[in-house]
Amino acid sequence: MTTKAATASRRVFLKQSSALLVMGLLWGPAVEPNPGGKMKKGKRIQLPEAGPMIPPVPAILLTVNGKTGGPDEISVVWTFVVEGKPPQIGISVHKQQVANELIKTHGEFVLNLPVADMVIAFDRVDMSSSRVGDKFKLSGLTRGKAIKVNAPTVEESPIQVECKVFNTIEVPPARTLFLAEVVATTIHVGVCDDKGRLMVDNVPFFGMTAGSGEFYTMGKRVGNIGMTKNRTDIKY
Ligand SMILES: Cc1cc2nc3c(=O)[nH]c(=O)nc-3n(C[C@H](O)[C@H](O)[C@H](O)COP(=O)(O)O)c2cc1C
Repeated sequence: MTTKAATASRRVFLKQSSALLVMGLLWGPAVEPNPGGKMKKGKRIQLPEAGPMIPPVPAILLTVNGKTGGPDEISVVWTFVVEGKPPQIGISVHKQQVANELIKTHGEFVLNLPVADMVIAFDRVDMSSSRVGDKFKLSGLTRGKAIKVNAPTVEESPIQVECKVFNTIEVPPARTLFLAEVVATTIHVGVCDDKGRLMVDNVPFFGMTAGSGEFYTMGKRVGNIGMTKNRTDIKY
Protein backbone atom coordinates (compact mmCIF):
# COMPACT_ATOMS: atom_id res chain seq x y z
CA MET A 1 0.00 0.00 0.00
CA THR A 2 1.43 3.44 -0.86
CA THR A 3 1.61 6.14 1.84
CA LYS A 4 -1.26 7.95 0.12
CA ALA A 5 -3.43 4.83 0.01
CA ALA A 6 -2.58 4.01 3.63
CA THR A 7 -3.56 7.53 4.72
CA ALA A 8 -6.81 7.35 2.77
CA SER A 9 -7.86 4.05 4.35
CA ARG A 10 -7.00 5.41 7.82
CA ARG A 11 -9.42 8.34 7.20
CA VAL A 12 -12.30 5.92 6.51
CA PHE A 13 -11.42 4.09 9.72
CA LEU A 14 -11.61 7.30 11.78
CA LYS A 15 -14.92 8.29 10.16
CA GLN A 16 -16.45 4.94 11.13
CA SER A 17 -15.27 5.53 14.70
CA SER A 18 -17.02 8.89 15.13
CA ALA A 19 -20.34 7.20 16.01
CA LEU A 20 -18.52 5.40 18.81
CA LEU A 21 -17.09 8.71 20.08
CA VAL A 22 -20.63 10.12 20.44
CA MET A 23 -21.65 6.93 22.30
CA GLY A 24 -18.62 7.38 24.58
CA LEU A 25 -19.70 10.91 25.43
CA LEU A 26 -23.21 9.69 26.22
CA TRP A 27 -21.89 6.79 28.28
CA GLY A 28 -20.85 8.98 31.23
CA PRO A 29 -17.75 9.59 33.36
CA ALA A 30 -14.65 7.36 33.31
CA VAL A 31 -14.59 4.49 35.83
CA GLU A 32 -11.82 4.56 38.46
CA PRO A 33 -9.94 1.27 38.97
CA ASN A 34 -11.26 -0.47 42.06
CA PRO A 35 -9.30 -3.72 42.49
CA GLY A 36 -11.04 -6.13 44.82
CA GLY A 37 -14.03 -3.78 45.09
CA LYS A 38 -17.67 -4.51 44.35
CA MET A 39 -17.95 -5.72 40.75
CA LYS A 40 -20.46 -3.89 38.56
CA LYS A 41 -22.49 -5.51 35.79
CA GLY A 42 -23.58 -2.29 34.05
CA LYS A 43 -26.08 -1.73 31.26
CA ARG A 44 -24.99 -3.46 28.02
CA ILE A 45 -25.55 -2.15 24.50
CA GLN A 46 -24.64 -3.59 21.09
CA LEU A 47 -22.34 -1.39 19.01
CA PRO A 48 -23.45 -0.61 15.44
CA GLU A 49 -20.36 -2.34 14.09
CA ALA A 50 -18.74 -5.57 15.32
CA GLY A 51 -14.98 -5.26 15.87
CA PRO A 52 -12.03 -6.44 17.96
CA MET A 53 -12.45 -3.64 20.53
CA ILE A 54 -9.75 -4.04 23.16
CA PRO A 55 -7.91 -1.61 25.47
CA PRO A 56 -4.38 -0.45 24.56
CA VAL A 57 -2.17 -3.28 23.35
CA PRO A 58 1.57 -2.60 23.15
CA ALA A 59 2.39 -1.42 19.67
CA ILE A 60 5.77 -2.61 18.47
CA LEU A 61 8.42 -1.61 15.94
CA LEU A 62 9.41 -4.67 13.92
CA THR A 63 12.78 -4.53 12.15
CA VAL A 64 13.87 -6.89 9.40
CA ASN A 65 16.61 -6.84 6.77
CA GLY A 66 15.66 -5.32 3.41
CA LYS A 67 16.12 -6.71 -0.09
CA THR A 68 19.66 -6.66 -1.48
CA GLY A 69 20.47 -2.99 -2.14
CA GLY A 70 17.15 -1.81 -0.63
CA PRO A 71 16.44 -0.15 2.72
CA ASP A 72 15.98 -2.21 5.87
CA GLU A 73 12.35 -2.28 7.01
CA ILE A 74 10.77 -0.91 10.18
CA SER A 75 7.09 -1.77 10.47
CA VAL A 76 4.48 -1.47 13.22
CA VAL A 77 2.87 -4.68 14.52
CA TRP A 78 0.87 -6.02 17.36
CA THR A 79 2.10 -9.24 18.86
CA PHE A 80 0.82 -12.03 21.07
CA VAL A 81 2.55 -14.50 23.36
CA VAL A 82 2.20 -18.07 22.10
CA GLU A 83 4.22 -19.79 24.84
CA GLY A 84 6.42 -18.76 27.80
CA LYS A 85 8.74 -21.78 27.88
CA PRO A 86 10.04 -22.17 25.21
CA PRO A 87 9.51 -18.46 24.51
CA GLN A 88 7.36 -18.07 21.40
CA ILE A 89 5.46 -15.10 19.98
CA GLY A 90 3.14 -14.52 17.04
CA ILE A 91 2.54 -11.61 14.67
CA SER A 92 -0.01 -11.11 11.90
CA VAL A 93 1.31 -9.18 8.90
CA HIS A 94 -0.79 -7.91 6.00
CA LYS A 95 0.32 -9.14 2.56
CA GLN A 96 0.61 -5.55 1.33
CA GLN A 97 3.17 -4.67 4.03
CA VAL A 98 6.77 -4.63 2.83
CA ALA A 99 7.66 -6.64 5.95
CA ASN A 100 5.57 -9.64 4.83
CA GLU A 101 7.86 -10.68 1.97
CA LEU A 102 11.00 -9.71 3.90
CA ILE A 103 10.13 -11.91 6.89
CA LYS A 104 9.44 -14.79 4.49
CA THR A 105 12.83 -14.21 2.82
CA HIS A 106 14.98 -13.79 5.95
CA GLY A 107 13.04 -15.78 8.58
CA GLU A 108 14.38 -13.50 11.34
CA PHE A 109 13.26 -10.18 12.82
CA VAL A 110 13.42 -8.06 15.96
CA LEU A 111 10.52 -6.64 18.01
CA ASN A 112 11.59 -3.25 19.41
CA LEU A 113 9.35 -1.92 22.20
CA PRO A 114 8.81 1.84 21.86
CA VAL A 115 8.28 4.32 24.72
CA ALA A 116 6.29 7.56 24.85
CA ASP A 117 9.14 9.88 23.79
CA MET A 118 9.39 7.84 20.56
CA VAL A 119 5.72 8.33 19.68
CA ILE A 120 6.36 10.86 16.86
CA ALA A 121 9.01 8.62 15.28
CA PHE A 122 6.63 5.68 15.78
CA ASP A 123 3.83 7.44 13.89
CA ARG A 124 6.25 8.43 11.11
CA VAL A 125 7.15 4.75 10.72
CA ASP A 126 3.49 3.79 10.53
CA MET A 127 2.55 6.58 8.13
CA SER A 128 5.51 6.07 5.78
CA SER A 129 6.47 3.23 3.50
CA SER A 130 9.84 1.69 2.73
CA ARG A 131 8.65 1.79 -0.88
CA VAL A 132 9.36 5.55 -0.86
CA GLY A 133 12.37 5.79 1.44
CA ASP A 134 14.49 4.53 4.31
CA LYS A 135 12.27 4.60 7.40
CA PHE A 136 15.27 4.92 9.72
CA LYS A 137 16.06 8.24 7.99
CA LEU A 138 12.40 9.31 7.81
CA SER A 139 11.80 8.65 11.52
CA GLY A 140 15.20 9.66 12.94
CA LEU A 141 15.47 6.31 14.76
CA THR A 142 18.94 4.78 15.16
CA ARG A 143 19.74 1.51 13.40
CA GLY A 144 21.51 -1.08 15.52
CA LYS A 145 22.44 -4.74 15.04
CA ALA A 146 20.84 -7.72 16.74
CA ILE A 147 23.11 -10.07 18.68
CA LYS A 148 21.63 -13.49 17.79
CA VAL A 149 19.73 -12.93 14.53
CA ASN A 150 20.70 -11.27 11.28
CA ALA A 151 18.43 -8.22 11.51
CA PRO A 152 18.60 -4.50 12.30
CA THR A 153 17.31 -3.06 15.60
CA VAL A 154 16.00 0.27 16.89
CA GLU A 155 18.58 1.42 19.43
CA GLU A 156 16.22 3.81 21.30
CA SER A 157 13.96 0.88 22.27
CA PRO A 158 14.45 -0.20 25.90
CA ILE A 159 13.54 -3.79 25.04
CA GLN A 160 14.56 -5.72 21.94
CA VAL A 161 13.17 -9.20 21.36
CA GLU A 162 15.07 -11.19 18.71
CA CYS A 163 12.97 -13.76 16.86
CA LYS A 164 13.36 -16.69 14.45
CA VAL A 165 10.30 -17.83 12.51
CA PHE A 166 9.36 -21.52 12.95
CA ASN A 167 5.92 -21.57 11.31
CA THR A 168 4.03 -19.48 8.77
CA ILE A 169 0.27 -19.66 8.33
CA GLU A 170 -1.63 -17.88 5.57
CA VAL A 171 -4.88 -16.41 6.91
CA PRO A 172 -7.43 -15.32 4.26
CA PRO A 173 -8.22 -12.79 3.04
CA ALA A 174 -4.89 -11.00 3.37
CA ARG A 175 -2.76 -11.90 6.37
CA THR A 176 0.19 -14.08 7.19
CA LEU A 177 0.61 -15.33 10.74
CA PHE A 178 4.26 -15.74 11.66
CA LEU A 179 5.03 -17.86 14.73
CA ALA A 180 8.55 -17.26 16.03
CA GLU A 181 10.90 -18.44 18.72
CA VAL A 182 12.45 -15.72 20.90
CA VAL A 183 16.20 -16.40 20.79
CA ALA A 184 17.50 -13.33 22.65
CA THR A 185 16.06 -10.46 24.70
CA THR A 186 18.12 -7.34 25.44
CA ILE A 187 17.15 -4.38 27.64
CA HIS A 188 18.39 -0.95 28.63
CA VAL A 189 19.79 -0.90 32.16
CA GLY A 190 17.05 0.19 34.60
CA VAL A 191 14.17 -1.48 32.74
CA CYS A 192 14.15 -4.62 34.92
CA ASP A 193 14.94 -5.09 38.61
CA ASP A 194 17.67 -7.53 39.74
CA LYS A 195 15.16 -10.43 39.61
CA GLY A 196 14.40 -9.75 35.96
CA ARG A 197 10.99 -8.22 36.73
CA LEU A 198 9.92 -5.57 34.21
CA MET A 199 9.51 -2.23 36.06
CA VAL A 200 6.54 -0.93 34.11
CA ASP A 201 6.19 2.09 36.45
CA ASN A 202 9.70 3.28 35.45
CA VAL A 203 9.31 3.09 31.68
CA PRO A 204 6.51 4.81 29.72
CA PHE A 205 5.59 1.97 27.38
CA PHE A 206 2.46 2.63 25.34
CA GLY A 207 -0.18 0.76 23.43
CA MET A 208 -2.91 1.49 20.90
CA THR A 209 -6.64 0.94 21.32
CA ALA A 210 -8.08 -1.42 18.72
CA GLY A 211 -11.09 0.28 17.17
CA SER A 212 -10.13 3.90 17.81
CA GLY A 213 -6.38 4.09 17.14
CA GLU A 214 -5.32 6.11 20.20
CA PHE A 215 -1.99 5.73 21.99
CA TYR A 216 -1.93 5.43 25.80
CA THR A 217 0.81 4.72 28.29
CA MET A 218 0.16 1.85 30.70
CA GLY A 219 -2.00 2.49 33.76
CA LYS A 220 -1.55 1.59 37.42
CA ARG A 221 -0.72 -1.91 38.58
CA VAL A 222 -3.91 -3.46 39.98
CA GLY A 223 -2.66 -6.93 40.90
CA ASN A 224 -0.44 -9.84 39.94
CA ILE A 225 -0.80 -13.41 38.75
CA GLY A 226 -1.52 -15.69 41.72
CA MET A 227 -2.70 -12.82 43.99
CA THR A 228 -5.78 -14.80 45.05
CA LYS A 229 -3.44 -17.53 46.36
CA ASN A 230 -1.05 -15.06 48.05
CA ARG A 231 1.62 -15.89 45.49
CA THR A 232 4.14 -13.51 43.93
CA ASP A 233 6.54 -16.13 42.56
CA ILE A 234 4.75 -17.03 39.31
CA LYS A 235 6.35 -15.87 36.07
CA TYR A 236 4.53 -16.32 32.82
C1 LIG B 1 -0.59 0.26 16.61
C2 LIG B 1 -0.46 -0.31 15.24
C3 LIG B 1 -0.42 -1.68 15.06
C4 LIG B 1 -0.27 -2.24 13.79
N1 LIG B 1 -0.23 -3.57 13.68
C5 LIG B 1 -0.10 -4.14 12.48
C6 LIG B 1 -0.03 -5.57 12.40
O1 LIG B 1 -0.09 -6.28 13.41
N2 LIG B 1 0.11 -6.10 11.15
C7 LIG B 1 0.19 -5.33 10.02
O2 LIG B 1 0.30 -5.90 8.93
N3 LIG B 1 0.15 -3.97 10.07
C8 LIG B 1 0.01 -3.36 11.28
N4 LIG B 1 -0.01 -1.98 11.37
C9 LIG B 1 0.19 -1.13 10.15
C10 LIG B 1 1.59 -1.17 9.48
O3 LIG B 1 2.59 -1.75 10.20
C11 LIG B 1 2.21 0.11 8.90
O4 LIG B 1 1.31 0.89 8.27
C12 LIG B 1 3.48 -0.20 8.12
O5 LIG B 1 4.49 0.45 8.82
C13 LIG B 1 3.46 0.17 6.65
O6 LIG B 1 4.79 0.10 6.13
P1 LIG B 1 5.22 -0.47 4.69
O7 LIG B 1 4.38 0.24 3.66
O8 LIG B 1 6.68 -0.16 4.59
O9 LIG B 1 4.91 -1.93 4.69
C14 LIG B 1 -0.16 -1.40 12.63
C15 LIG B 1 -0.20 -0.02 12.82
C16 LIG B 1 -0.35 0.53 14.10
C17 LIG B 1 -0.39 2.02 14.27
